[in-house]
Amino acid sequence: MSAPEEWREEIETFADDLARAVDWEVRRVDSGAVGDIVVRHDASRGAEGYRLVVGDRVEVEAGDAAGFAYALTALRQFGPPELWSRTTTRLAHWTLDAVEVCDGPTYAWRGAHLDVARHFFDVATVLRFVDLVAAHRLNRLHLHLNDDQGWRVEVPEWPELTRVGAWRRGSPLGHEFDDVRDDVPHGGYYDADDIARIVEHARRRHVQVIPEIDLPGHAQALLAAYPQFGNTAQRVDVWTHWGISHHVLNVDPPTLDFVERLVGYVAGLFGDAPVHIGGDECPTTQWEASAAAREAMERHGFHDPQQLQGLFTERLSRSLMAQGREVLAWDEVLDAQVVPGTTICAWRSARKGREAAERGFDVIMAPMQYTYFDWLNSDSPEEPVAVGAWPYVTTWEKVYAMSVVPEGLDPLLRGRVRGAQAQLWTEYIDSAARLDYMAFPRLCAFSEVVWGTAGDVEDFRPRLEHHLARLEAMGVAYRELDDEVR
Ligand code: ACM
Repeated sequence: MSAPEEWREEIETFADDLARAVDWEVRRVDSGAVGDIVVRHDASRGAEGYRLVVGDRVEVEAGDAAGFAYALTALRQFGPPELWSRTTTRLAHWTLDAVEVCDGPTYAWRGAHLDVARHFFDVATVLRFVDLVAAHRLNRLHLHLNDDQGWRVEVPEWPELTRVGAWRRGSPLGHEFDDVRDDVPHGGYYDADDIARIVEHARRRHVQVIPEIDLPGHAQALLAAYPQFGNTAQRVDVWTHWGISHHVLNVDPPTLDFVERLVGYVAGLFGDAPVHIGGDECPTTQWEASAAAREAMERHGFHDPQQLQGLFTERLSRSLMAQGREVLAWDEVLDAQVVPGTTICAWRSARKGREAAERGFDVIMAPMQYTYFDWLNSDSPEEPVAVGAWPYVTTWEKVYAMSVVPEGLDPLLRGRVRGAQAQLWTEYIDSAARLDYMAFPRLCAFSEVVWGTAGDVEDFRPRLEHHLARLEAMGVAYRELDDEVR
């Protein structure tokens, strides 16, 4: 293969993947020499775009390094599933049909979100997930790093966050409303080296890792470690329930200072990636009962306790933006003071995405009805326990029918829709195998949606069936397709 020198890494990754899959050797030759695969930079292909021509040899024109990587992915897709194997299998040869492909994504933000707080996933599982995300041409991994049930990043200045906050005594067994607990301790966390490994592995596969620290709600694990940042004298444990804890951060100035330093530290582990500051589902009951919070309301002239959340949003956003970081937040931040320039992750509905765009914000679409892969795969009673029950069902066909642009959005505002992401909340995902089952094939359908090629589901189904052989080769424990298209 001959390619521009600056794309050496993409060839190395391709060569590593093929060596592992089929024990083939891919060699890079000087650009003066003619290889079996000839690669050229062509800026007219656009960001992440490419043209791939298979004739007597393979020619690739790519707009950038990511486009080149996606062209190599396409080339691998034209071959047999063995090329995707994660353990070495024998493959004598591979015949390519003549073909020309011109391709590129419609949306720049094509994300997968993974909640490592409700259940912790070790580095190897995260790296494998990155590979699967990249194989589907998604380019962001949003890591949800803390919640009521666990804190997952070591922070040297506050060691109790992981000494205490990363561990819980047990988890619900079955649904929360069944009120049965397993009494099996669960926990884990990443240190700075772990994060660096994840970020670097992802970077090489053109996946940017987005850290999320979710505050001021979803804070019970933090409060178990550092109760002084809470509203009451009550000591709390890392939560052993699912749901939304009413233990939230207090609004005292030292707490805002702490949060700014804390999120700044975590953000620093992720290079210059955008930072998600959470902001969802923050109950105000403790603030309403707190004299200090009521005084803060008076001092700031607030009429609604929800505005207290805006103190966190504003402080964090301004601090991160001053360091040149893009700031993301869940759509609840629209309900209090939100800083211009914040990117809104619209999860409660597509309508929230439309509202955000109309109010001048960039939007990442994450409407739960289509992109929450913790919902049931079908309404069959055979499905393993998942969040809620009917009607919380999202089949892969439904995912495939998603429109990224929210209904009714003025076409002039479409540019504010940066893309979409699929969410894997992990209350009921406690293993790599269950992660596979919930993610696939819904993530396959989602990848076409956000790449911009989703069309008729009847056309997609045979393509998907073909693709399942690749997932199998990758060792993915995907959910089997049902016989009927629903
Ligand atoms: C969310 O699902 N609470 C963002």
